[in-house]
Amino acid sequence: MKRIGVFTSGGDAPGMNAAIRAVVRQAYALGLEVIGIRRGYAGMILGEMVPLGVRDVANILQRGGTVLLTARSQEFLTEEGRAKAAEKLKAAGIEGLVAIGGDGTFRGAMRLLEEHKVPVVGVPGTIDNDLYGTDYTIGFDTAVNTALEAIDRIRDTAASHERVFFIEVMGRDSGFIALDVGLAGGAEVIAVPEEPVDPRAIAEGLLESLRRGKSSSIVVVAEGAYPGGAAGLLAAIREHVPVEARVTVLGHIQRGGSPTAKDRILASRLGAAAVEALAGGTSGVMVGEVEGEVELTPLKEAVERKKDINRSLLALSRILAL
Ligand code: F6P
Repeated sequence: MKRIGVFTSGGDAPGMNAAIRAVVRQAYALGLEVIGIRRGYAGMILGEMVPLGVRDVANILQRGGTVLLTARSQEFLTEEGRAKAAEKLKAAGIEGLVAIGGDGTFRGAMRLLEEHKVPVVGVPGTIDNDLYGTDYTIGFDTAVNTALEAIDRIRDTAASHERVFFIEVMGRDSGFIALDVGLAGGAEVIAVPEEPVDPRAIAEGLLESLRRGKSSSIVVVAEGAYPGGAAGLLAAIREHVPVEARVTVLGHIQRGGSPTAKDRILASRLGAAAVEALAGGTSGVMVGEVEGEVELTPLKEAVERKKDINRSLLALSRILAL
């Protein structure tokens, strides 16, 4: 193998740049050339490619977002789209790929491998932390810290006005972000998609808090925990109790910003490990970190097996919220 490609796809995540840097520099150490593919699968189809040397990735380690840009491509979901992408890769002499992204990225990579025999290794880059085969995904730690800072600020105003706040955090279909920021932020309630959410029970809990003398409360809601997110949950609660509350949707601020040290280190380690695996002839796997060690997991398992939230942390949050 002489030349590999690297791309980022799907939602961006802080630390993706650190992973790109690691891929390029580890490849250089192994004598491989790297081509950066811009705009994920959309750019692959159009042949948007740039050679990446070791100096091209200087000064990006600390930057949020992705210098290669990213996209969610509809065309790549079609056989024709994937055939076009495979042709462009062949024309550019790319013999293997490092795909940095989440489950959608890996599903696409699996198709490319199956249909066009393009060797590929995945690097888990998503704030959602919803990939099996790694304790944490790149970007999760930064997103949690960003959301936590916002929640701390909201708590100041919630306490001053003696209000209840419903704060919606990202995580698509998973409650990893909600659980961690909820516990770290001392939330009174944490609503996650992994557990049934009962508006009446939450309403009663909030009333009980009031009776115990709590004048303000924070309810952290994962976006997929209830239809309509935080606003939908508040509306459902208001059918039982006329709760006076404000809703804040943290949204895309959770995806931006300079990556934490933890995310930079994880991204550096996994980016390099992906190149080593690819150069060693391994394909169809995701590199992850499990209990401190780098591990390889088949892409299919990484996207199809459900990684569960830590339920004992959820139980602890309920005890501590008293
Ligand atoms: O997968 C990352 C993520 O930020 C999810 O948490 C969220 O549901 C989704 O992307 C939002 O996607 P978009 O930026 O395309 O609206």
